[in-house]
Amino acid sequence: AKLNTVAKMSGKKYFGTATDNPELDDTAYTAILNDNRQFGQLTPANSMKWDATEPARGTFTFTEGDQIANLAKSNGQLLRGHNCVWHNQLPSWVTSGNFDAPTLQSIITTHCSTVVGHYKGQPITTRVNIVSLMSHHAEPFNDDGTFQTDVFFETLNTSYITTALNAAKAADPSTKLYINEFNIEFEGTDSTAMQNLIKSLKSAGTQIDGIGMQFHMIVGELPGGLASNMQAFASLGVEVAITELDIRMTLPATAALYEQQKADYQTVISACQSVSECIGITIWDWTDEFSWIPGTFAGQGAACPWDATFLRKPAFDGIVAGF
Ligand code: XIL
Repeated sequence: AKLNTVAKMSGKKYFGTATDNPELDDTAYTAILNDNRQFGQLTPANSMKWDATEPARGTFTFTEGDQIANLAKSNGQLLRGHNCVWHNQLPSWVTSGNFDAPTLQSIITTHCSTVVGHYKGQPITTRVNIVSLMSHHAEPFNDDGTFQTDVFFETLNTSYITTALNAAKAADPSTKLYINEFNIEFEGTDSTAMQNLIKSLKSAGTQIDGIGMQFHMIVGELPGGLASNMQAFASLGVEVAITELDIRMTLPATAALYEQQKADYQTVISACQSVSECIGITIWDWTDEFSWIPGTFAGQGAACPWDATFLRKPAFDGIVAGF
């Protein structure tokens, strides 16, 4: 069984993975990445972010983003754009520019419409993370569900979200617009705050098509109620996607941890499987060799369904069993 094949047979639109430009030189890696029965969708992990696409104001560079877009196209894979507005990986001209509100608003409009417009008309581009939010250490939500401050919120309050969504919609009306977030995978203050944000966007007539739930999880520590939380979002009239799934552990990996990880992957997939509005799942790279986890969470890793030598782990079977 291969993951995209199983996902599609189970009614999902795709099973996909993040990838990144440097690893595309590894032919053993691309041999697996390029198999559209395994991965029906790609997300660029870095090369469509603001620092990569507009390193200087008004100067756009799409070489690396295009490399992944073109790879997806030639592989027959969907592409998820990632992302237009996020507090991380911003060029310093944005964070240190001290722009007034109208100027920053126009900077966001230019950025989102140029990036989304660049990929317009490529049938591979069906869904884009327009606003990517990370609640644990920055905006828009603090742990108590209140808005945190960053350059966008400080200058524009929550209007920057609407600005970004509207710019993307104008640039490519057929693209599905997503807000991508974590800490909303389970019921709690952040999930409630995000649901309130969706309600207020919708009542203001702003288009919002979907919510990306990142799903960076820890082995043995999955929260409960995953499906009912997804259903609460679906009930607001948005689709849901799992956009960045990985399940990390404190190293060293053991057989017991791998078994728990298998069960945890299965639980996450089953939750999506039980909610028809959960359209697909993306893992945040498929191999431990190129996972972002060890570089970000000291002492942790082994979060992906394939190990660093590209061998399948029990987690792979957990994914298949979850559909
Ligand atoms: C990560 C990338 O994988 C890393 O290579 C980079 O150094 C930092 O960003 N949530 C997101 C992703 O929305 O963009 C992040 O990707 C992981 C957390």
